Amino acid sequence: MVPVDLLVTGASGRLGPSLVQALHRDGDRLRQLSRRGTGPDAVRGDLATGADLPAALAGAEVVVHAASDPRNAWAVDVAGTRRLVQSVDRGRLQHLVYVSIVGVDRIPWSYYRAKYATEQVLLASGLPVTIVRVTQFHGFVDELLATARKGPVLPVPMGWRVQPVDVADAARYLAGVARQAPSGAIVDFGGPEELAVADLARMWAAAREPGAHVVSTPFPGRLSSALRDGAALPIGGERGQRSYADHLAA
Ligand SMILES: NC(=O)c1ccc[n+]([C@@H]2O[C@H](COP(=O)([O-])OP(=O)(O)OC[C@H]3O[C@@H](n4cnc5c(N)ncnc54)[C@H](OP(=O)(O)O)[C@@H]3O)[C@@H](O)[C@H]2O)c1
Repeated sequence: MVPVDLLVTGASGRLGPSLVQALHRDGDRLRQLSRRGTGPDAVRGDLATGADLPAALAGAEVVVHAASDPRNAWAVDVAGTRRLVQSVDRGRLQHLVYVSIVGVDRIPWSYYRAKYATEQVLLASGLPVTIVRVTQFHGFVDELLATARKGPVLPVPMGWRVQPVDVADAARYLAGVARQAPSGAIVDFGGPEELAVADLARMWAAAREPGAHVVSTPFPGRLSSALRDGAALPIGGERGQRSYADHLAA
């Protein structure tokens, strides 16, 4: 097999370590971009400023772009991806896979608008891209629920529907896509089952915080109505296998 030069952005995040593991293949060169750039396979680069990006991207044939900053998304995700596009080695790049989120085109939230704008940057770039929209990772759902709990009460928005996914399932899928030819398309990837947020919260509470009492609360507004209408659910595409219940049981 011909060795491939791979670069992963966002390798230090929630998804990154699973992604690096799923992409690993003997003989390839796999580098991990982060702002600090420390560690054996690490390379330094800052999407918010553009510092060190051209050197980091030099020679990369496959890029899996998973870096993001929800608190600074227009600078890091949108403008940062523009900088990434300007820094890639067009003569070498075979495939750039962008990790987006299911519903960025349908859920009116500022972070999602920035992710959608980032997709547009890539689709207009002329680069060989594939965009994969993924649903929420199980571990991220745990973090959100732990933050939402107020003492013995766990308030959750009434009627929201989600389809969370195992981070390793998502990483394996993304690695598979990265090894294929670019499609120029947007594909969805989600977990095996749709769940109401209230049911998800009850499962989490039973496993992690048995004293917590889930209270479904009506949540007004367009964002809430989109989530009730299923805007966070994947349309078509493949599914991960591991359920949220399996994740909690592990
Ligand atoms: N979390 C979810 O449930 C979920 C679901 C679907 C899709 N996604 C998408 O999947 C991707 C990964 O999500 P995640 O939850 O793993 O993210 P995360 O844990 O928040 O990690 C963000 C990553 O982005 C990097 N980063 C932030 N600012 C940067 C900058 N200025 N320059 C370079 N790198 C920067 C961070 O690296 P350093 O801080 O080390 O530099 C870190 O590795 C994101 O695009 C996200 O939108 C997430």
